[in-house]
Amino acid sequence: MEFDSACIHRVKIVIIVKFSAGVGMKGVILAGGLGTRLRPLTKVTNKHLLPVFNKPMIYYPLETLVDAGITDIMIVTGGSDAGDFLRLLGNGKQFGLEQINYAYQEGEGGIAEALSHAEYFADQELLCVILGDNLVEKSIRPYVEDFERIGKGAKILLKEVEDPQRFGVPELNGKRVIRIEEKPAVPKSCYAVTGIYMYDSEVFDIVKTLKPSNRGELEITDVNNAYIERNLMTYDVLDGWWTDAGTFDSLLKASNLVAETERKLGRGR
Ligand code: G1P
Repeated sequence: MEFDSACIHRVKIVIIVKFSAGVGMKGVILAGGLGTRLRPLTKVTNKHLLPVFNKPMIYYPLETLVDAGITDIMIVTGGSDAGDFLRLLGNGKQFGLEQINYAYQEGEGGIAEALSHAEYFADQELLCVILGDNLVEKSIRPYVEDFERIGKGAKILLKEVEDPQRFGVPELNGKRVIRIEEKPAVPKSCYAVTGIYMYDSEVFDIVKTLKPSNRGELEITDVNNAYIERNLMTYDVLDGWWTDAGTFDSLLKASNLVAETERKLGRGR
């Protein structure tokens, strides 16, 4: 078979563009829950539709995934305001997406239960899961690409915080995570497990083995501990600021951090 050299050249260019355009992983944003810690703000709307500085909260995790090169995205939500996500985000055109997938979580089964709704969508691919109330300053792309290189198991992203007892807290031994405790009274490190998790497709089988915690939910910390027990967990420490936005204080903090960052970048007015 003979090849025209100009044609070969064109093929090369196409491949380069594809690599720089995105990673092969799929993204899942978990945006359900009752938002009880934010009542009455969440009495008639979903927490993830509330404003954080100049945008609805859900924009931030969506932009974080897109910025990491992830364009195949599912939003899992629930409650009576689920339709508002469609009205707000549509097919994701303003984020450079061709479409957004949606799943509906009935009831209040916890983060791991919400994730189980993405099994069909995931279709055996690697996943980057982000909680809809988690905001980051810097790109998570380096961590996503590292997990793609590893190609199996799980990766969590940690951040040093002043109040670790509010979060999942890892016990560390060098580059190894020994165990994660959910909201411990006496934290074993000053790190929070952020709500950004990377998993292989085993995650769905792990979720099926979970039992509800004391608060009656399937906990994402139990999923992560299952990967730790199998020796398949890695972690990175996030660069730049990170916050959740699920309480009055953290919601205010999130708005202030975004405002400050936007001002530094000369935007947001
Ligand atoms: C959840 C997780 C917790 C994690 C936190 C990050 O907590 O259970 O491990 O540190 O998200 O935002 P929740 O928001 O349910 O209190």
